[in-house]
Amino acid sequence: MPEKKIIAVVGATGSQGGGLVRAILNDKNGGFAARAITRDVNAPKARELAKLGAEVVAADVDDEASLQRTFSGAHGAYCVTFFWAHFSPEKEKAEAASMARAAKQTGIKHVIWSTLEDTRVLVPLSDTRMPTLQGKYKVPHFDAKGESDKLFTEQGVPTTFLLTSFYWDNLIMFGMGPKPGPDGTLAFTLPMGDKKLPGIAAEDIGRCAYGIFKRGREFIGKTVGIAGEHLTGAQMSEALAKALGRPVRYNAVTPEVYRGFGFPGADDLGNMFQYKRDFETEFCGARSVAFSRALNPAMLSFSAWLAQNKDRIPTT
Ligand SMILES: NC(=O)c1ccc[n+]([C@@H]2O[C@H](COP(=O)([O-])OP(=O)(O)OC[C@H]3O[C@@H](n4cnc5c(N)ncnc54)[C@H](OP(=O)(O)O)[C@@H]3O)[C@@H](O)[C@H]2O)c1
Repeated sequence: MPEKKIIAVVGATGSQGGGLVRAILNDKNGGFAARAITRDVNAPKARELAKLGAEVVAADVDDEASLQRTFSGAHGAYCVTFFWAHFSPEKEKAEAASMARAAKQTGIKHVIWSTLEDTRVLVPLSDTRMPTLQGKYKVPHFDAKGESDKLFTEQGVPTTFLLTSFYWDNLIMFGMGPKPGPDGTLAFTLPMGDKKLPGIAAEDIGRCAYGIFKRGREFIGKTVGIAGEHLTGAQMSEALAKALGRPVRYNAVTPEVYRGFGFPGADDLGNMFQYKRDFETEFCGARSVAFSRALNPAMLSFSAWLAQNKDRIPTT
């Protein structure tokens, strides 16, 4: 039997990387092995991955030597950064640069870089429809990723640029689920007007990434966008109401109002939703649901995701 191709997975204990590790391990005869990268091999989530059959190794994206050690001998690498751990686009770019160099130095044959659009291509800093943030960004957590694409290209690393989508899991993890209004009726707040938001079950991102690795060289040098469904806020509210068994009103606030909510990152997310709203055609067009499903036939729709997760969505 030929030796399995090792995929080194950054963020293996998290949403994107975890989905990829599980997708690899669930396909016993797929020809790939999962090397799960974590900062703490003894943490419960890391142990869980080891129990499932992953090789669990320690590295920190802020320590390039540790990345080199863990990429060494691997066929592929899944590279993701963690904006919400530090809110710094500069740090995110430095981490992407470290991963690109480590991939180059270890001769990785296929990197998947989890990226997003540099929104400044369509909304230059001179565009006053939304505020400029942190001095030189419109949507810092998008722009830093998009700007980093070139770091992989410049290193000559064989890379697939993976455009991900809004996790429906944000309704559980990010406090974005419906909340009761003054009359007790649940309201789902999104500054998208009547435009469609591409969304995905976080676990499906890793499954799509696995589909890309399985296709070999086909998507090297290409940008691939993925989504489980494109839905308006009204459609999401309707699906939520059906799943939760109680009315859910769509609360279509403006991006200005959303930016003013005051939680950490509200301005970044307000700009992000405004970008997705104002450039619906481009944003949805870059994320074909049919193509995503071809990569990952197990892809969940929003209703299917809700059926599995409705009890985990806080509604108070
Ligand atoms: N939420 C969304 O809707 C959405 C949509 C598209 C893209 N994104 C992007 O997704 C990215 C985060 O990915 P995710 O959601 O998969 O992450 P996640 O679930 O928050 O966590 C990923 C894992 O990253 C590891 N980690 C954190 N800092 C690290 C470091 N310095 N070195 C090595 N590992 C580190 C942690 O593992 P250990 O503790 O085990 O080391 C953690 O379990 C963000 O940049 C965000 O912008 C989010």
